[in-house]
Amino acid sequence: MTLEIAVLPNTGCLLESAISCYTEAFSLPPYSDPNRGREVLTRLQTTHRQIAGFRAFIAVKSTARETAVGLCYGYKSQSGQWWHETVRKQLDQSLLPTWFDTAYELVEIAVLPSEQGQGIGTQLISTLLAKRPEPGCLLSTRIDSRAYQLYERLGFSVLGEIKFTDLSAPYYVMGKVF
Ligand SMILES: CC(C)(COP(=O)(O)OP(=O)(O)OC[C@H]1O[C@@H](n2cnc3c(N)ncnc32)[C@H](O)[C@@H]1OP(=O)(O)O)[C@@H](O)C(=O)NCCC(=O)NCCS
Repeated sequence: MTLEIAVLPNTGCLLESAISCYTEAFSLPPYSDPNRGREVLTRLQTTHRQIAGFRAFIAVKSTARETAVGLCYGYKSQSGQWWHETVRKQLDQSLLPTWFDTAYELVEIAVLPSEQGQGIGTQLISTLLAKRPEPGCLLSTRIDSRAYQLYERLGFSVLGEIKFTDLSAPYYVMGKVF
């Protein structure tokens, strides 16, 4: 299989299929959240595309060029943003890296379940983070998610543990210096 990593278009069937990857990937445990794809689309269209450093990539197989099998995006993590402030408030200050306020953030990634485990997520992250000018990258991931192992393999380490709401599952905050 030849895989192409391309820029996420603003409209059309590749955008729709990229969002379907989210819906399918996050419908499964431990997330079991079938609304995640639509929520990601809304955030993309209303605010996330406008944030400094925004980049978004899809994975497309050479045998099915009208269908995305994965999507990942990120932007500069800045004070005033919900994720940034939630992490700052909950992590002990001594655990925050010195570059916390100038970091890049890996915001979302999902690969179609039938295509997982073949290196697509790795390629998406490598493309997203290539040649970024920030000193490092931050992300959060549920502590019971297998994504944690992928991030560790890519050089991320755990900075601490947080909850986004009182009822939310615990998440690791992870960081990697470029
Ligand atoms: C996490 C995810 C994006 C990784 O994509 P991927 O294409 O499967 O990743 P790769 O094939 O490049 O790497 C596989 C690694 O991811 C981890 N992984 C996570 N879910 C996996 C799955 N269903 N199948 C195989 N590996 C999986 C494994 O630890 C594996 O590590 P290894 O290569 O050292 O064995 C994808 O599994 C996914 O969409 N999961 C559901 C959504 C999610 O958890 N997103 C991240 C939220 S922080």
